[in-house]
Amino acid sequence: MSIDTATGKEAPAEISSERVKDIFSSIAKKYERFNAVSSFGAYKSWLAGMMRQAPIEPTDDVLDIAGGTGDVTFTVARTKHPRHIQCTDLVNEMLGVARAHYADGAACGVPVDFEVVDAQNIPYADASYDALTMAYGIRNMPDRPRALSEMLRVLKPGGHLVCLEFSTPPNAVWRALYNFYLKHLIPFWGGLITGDKAGFVYLSKSIKAFPNQEGLAKMMREAGFVDVTWKNYTGGIAAVHVAKKPE
Ligand SMILES: C[S@@+](CC[C@H](N)C(=O)[O-])C[C@H]1O[C@@H](n2cnc3c(N)ncnc32)[C@H](O)[C@@H]1O
Repeated sequence: MSIDTATGKEAPAEISSERVKDIFSSIAKKYERFNAVSSFGAYKSWLAGMMRQAPIEPTDDVLDIAGGTGDVTFTVARTKHPRHIQCTDLVNEMLGVARAHYADGAACGVPVDFEVVDAQNIPYADASYDALTMAYGIRNMPDRPRALSEMLRVLKPGGHLVCLEFSTPPNAVWRALYNFYLKHLIPFWGGLITGDKAGFVYLSKSIKAFPNQEGLAKMMREAGFVDVTWKNYTGGIAAVHVAKKPE
């Protein structure tokens, strides 16, 4: 079943896929500046947390899903030095920015290839990657069960999916403050920095409609992952889930 990622309600997949392509192809060049300003720099510490939780070894082949402008790919390269990273995304304009960073040496010598890939239909062989990374990707996908089973399929047995995503603060007061920020300030900042206010109204709505920490863990288990754990960041505004493919 596919949903509208802005509401969580059942809808044809094209509604969400076309919207996400429109948004990310037009904001690609300004995406990184928006990230830095809107989260007051917190996204860097979430990414550092993701790396601390990521069981990635120097011998690993890594697949970065929804890799965008390459932030996760290059952080994995710098901190884990894996054998190879395949950086993929639905939107070529986002990967264009990542390719430019790679040409400037962002991967510190780790080989990286880039390819346009829809995570709901991954064009790679079964059991071909040791580890998968994904930051802020699954929330934008209209058929999440299918995306997660595709991720499970391409992982080697015993391999891990490491997923950073916006989530739900468990504390009611913090959650209310955060919801105010999401509804009013994110569209303001986003509009100011990128000129695309509508894209940031979507961002806020998609975060509100996304399942909480346990909800995402349940989806992962239903797709066939085991040993699903998560850690909250900034009081649960973001969470990093780690899920294993059975041996
Ligand atoms: C918020 S960006 C995150 C980019 C990057 N992971 C980062 O941390 O900066 C979300 C990305 O998800 C990508 N995306 C959305 N739906 C996708 C899909 N079905 N398959 C692959 N990528 C997708 C978008 O094109 C966009 O680049």
